[in-house]
Amino acid sequence: MIPYGRHSINDDDIAAVVSALKSDWLTTGPLVEQFESELEKVVGAPCISVSSGTAALHCAYAAIGLGPGDEVITPPITFIATQATAALFGATIVFADVQPDTANIDPQAVEAAITSRTKAIVAVDYAGHPADLDELRVIADRHGIYLIEDAAHSIGSMYKGRPVGSIADITAFSFFPTKNLTTGEGGAVSSIHPELLERAKRFSRQGLVRNPSEFKITDQGPWHQEVHVFGLNYRLPDVLCALGISQLKRIQDFKAKKKSIFQSYANHLGTSSSIDLPHEKSDISVNWHLFPIRVDPQKRTDIFSNLRKAGIGVQVNYIPAYWHPIFSEKGFRRGMFPNSDTFYSQEISLPMYSNLTEEDVKTVVRELLVLI
Ligand SMILES: Cc1ncc(COP(=O)(O)O)c(C=O)c1O
Repeated sequence: MIPYGRHSINDDDIAAVVSALKSDWLTTGPLVEQFESELEKVVGAPCISVSSGTAALHCAYAAIGLGPGDEVITPPITFIATQATAALFGATIVFADVQPDTANIDPQAVEAAITSRTKAIVAVDYAGHPADLDELRVIADRHGIYLIEDAAHSIGSMYKGRPVGSIADITAFSFFPTKNLTTGEGGAVSSIHPELLERAKRFSRQGLVRNPSEFKITDQGPWHQEVHVFGLNYRLPDVLCALGISQLKRIQDFKAKKKSIFQSYANHLGTSSSIDLPHEKSDISVNWHLFPIRVDPQKRTDIFSNLRKAGIGVQVNYIPAYWHPIFSEKGFRRGMFPNSDTFYSQEISLPMYSNLTEEDVKTVVRELLVLI
């Protein structure tokens, strides 16, 4: 089976984890801060590590103080965690349709969805391709709202010369094994605003206040710590930070390999008029997490099933989020966001990961072309 995504673990990664296991720290030790400072070098803004991409989003929403009555504008083409973590704060999920080429949220649709209750725009960098962050920033600033980036797919991507993580008010990353780098489960939050990052950090560490200058209880001893706002335990342990530090050293290598796989697919498939390849806008450098092609929607299910039968672990990313019963039962109906529906009806994610070989690409292409 050639999977659609797969981690790459080398001897250095293994040695780093073994060395952490032999150290005094399994949970929060020195490697957490080291991983966070290495991450900052890649994403261009201070970071905290957390236990998953879902946790990172939850922390981002906590940091902006999201609550009942607030609206967040999100794209339908994403994994449901983008919406779930906001809804769990009691916020109302609003959808804005995606652009037909990148499947990223359309700034014009965002503008049309803004109300006096909008608290944040959430852009998802689908497949690793950054959303239209400059246009979204203008809208966010005009309305005095936050720009949050769900960068679960896009660590290592660049937007107009700037790294993903240094542009939105707050950015959430995932280090799940199929993603651009892995810590097993894991994630991170970056922010260009120190106070937002501090709030995200506190939320990820049980809400505990440890700085005496902030204490409201002042008659206790040096052991004292206290809670002002509830938080959760989203800490990423040292053992996994060890893997993250090692993986970060390889991120440019991963990106270069996937760029060459992208090129290879493009060379083999570019001449087929029945296949639409992923688009890369100008002044963008994508660290490809997915390779989403689009085919005739009438043939999509057959192509998908036959590729699976042939041992190609294709995926469909994603069912439009508003189709989930949790939204349809609230009155959302298919067809409300036509670009998302069209994209979904045509999409198949071909295998894309750094260890995919040229032979693998040829196998995928051969199996695909007979089905088109
Ligand atoms: C767009 C998007 N956001 C959030 C997540 C959640 O990340 P994790 O699986 O690390 O919790 C994912 C993971 O698949 C994702 O694809």
